[in-house]
Amino acid sequence: MGIRDISIVGAGSVGVFLTYILNKRSMTPKLIFRRNVEERIFLKTLSGDEFQLRYKPILYKDFNKWLSSDLVVIATKAYDAEKIIDDISNRSVDVKSFVFVQNGLKILENAADKLGSEKIIQILLNHGIAKVDKNVFLWSGGGRSYIGALPGSSNPYVEEIHDLFSELDLEVVNDIQPYRWLKLSVNAVINPITAILEDKNRVVIDNIFVREFLARRICKEIEAVADLHGINLPKDPYEEVIRVAKETGNNYSSMYMDIRYCRRTEIDYINGAVVEYGLRKGYKALFNETLYYLVKAKEAKCVA
Ligand SMILES: NC(=O)c1ccc[n+]([C@@H]2O[C@H](COP(=O)([O-])OP(=O)(O)OC[C@H]3O[C@@H](n4cnc5c(N)ncnc54)[C@H](OP(=O)(O)O)[C@@H]3O)[C@@H](O)[C@H]2O)c1
Repeated sequence: MGIRDISIVGAGSVGVFLTYILNKRSMTPKLIFRRNVEERIFLKTLSGDEFQLRYKPILYKDFNKWLSSDLVVIATKAYDAEKIIDDISNRSVDVKSFVFVQNGLKILENAADKLGSEKIIQILLNHGIAKVDKNVFLWSGGGRSYIGALPGSSNPYVEEIHDLFSELDLEVVNDIQPYRWLKLSVNAVINPITAILEDKNRVVIDNIFVREFLARRICKEIEAVADLHGINLPKDPYEEVIRVAKETGNNYSSMYMDIRYCRRTEIDYINGAVVEYGLRKGYKALFNETLYYLVKAKEAKCVA
């Protein structure tokens, strides 16, 4: 076997962070850009260390230069990942495995359909990385993260990929679904609430109306939809939301930042996906739907 040639699509927060993790193992991945970037890229840590990344730059449109890799990590936002999956599915590839890092639902399912479920792996990344300057990213730390495939699809490379990225404090799980839905619960509360209330993550615990009413109801709906799809969450989602909101209280969520800087959010793949998955089973997730439309309204206000 032996995965040696690795490509990472997307030189944003996660792509840069995973490049750093591979550099620490003395590996130099290919980093795939949409356009030519001349500047060097740096990753900073909270302790003040700064690393200059090592990578081979490749342009996205040069498909044959990166679709020949053993492993391709798709480290873009969910809406871009959707287009990339379509581009890849129209080409013949030698890639042994694709790793996806997107939060929320739909991308992994879409990738499994179009690229073959035996080739698809998800890393559920519980680390925080953000761009703090032009070509400078800050890794603000993280904790236990998960790697695994969809149920029923056996990928022979999971252990090897786990070892490559073991610095992430990664645990291999047989079925990634329950962990995805647990993280979905956290994102479905913290992201839209902070974006709508224009506040830090701690608003979820400090504001009694959010903590005791909204957060509980959103989690109940997600548990119900997961249950209808035969998925049992590994922990109580509400307790997980409260734990993460406490732990990351001083941070601004990615959705808050997206709205603040007038960028498209990933709401379609988070609360929007909960609504969609509920309707497939005849269930109306009304609290999730309301948050979905409120964030969509904020997005629309931004581009109007
Ligand atoms: N940041 C975190 O802490 C974190 C943690 C866990 C999970 N996640 C998830 O990870 C995913 C990525 O998040 P992120 O924070 O890394 O986003 P990001 O900082 O916006 O980075 C995405 C990058 O992908 C690039 N890109 C998009 N389409 C491309 C293409 N076709 N070819 C090459 N590059 C392309 C973008 O390039 P341009 O600059 O040209 O737009 C951008 O640099 C999201 O789904 C997020 O939910 C993030």
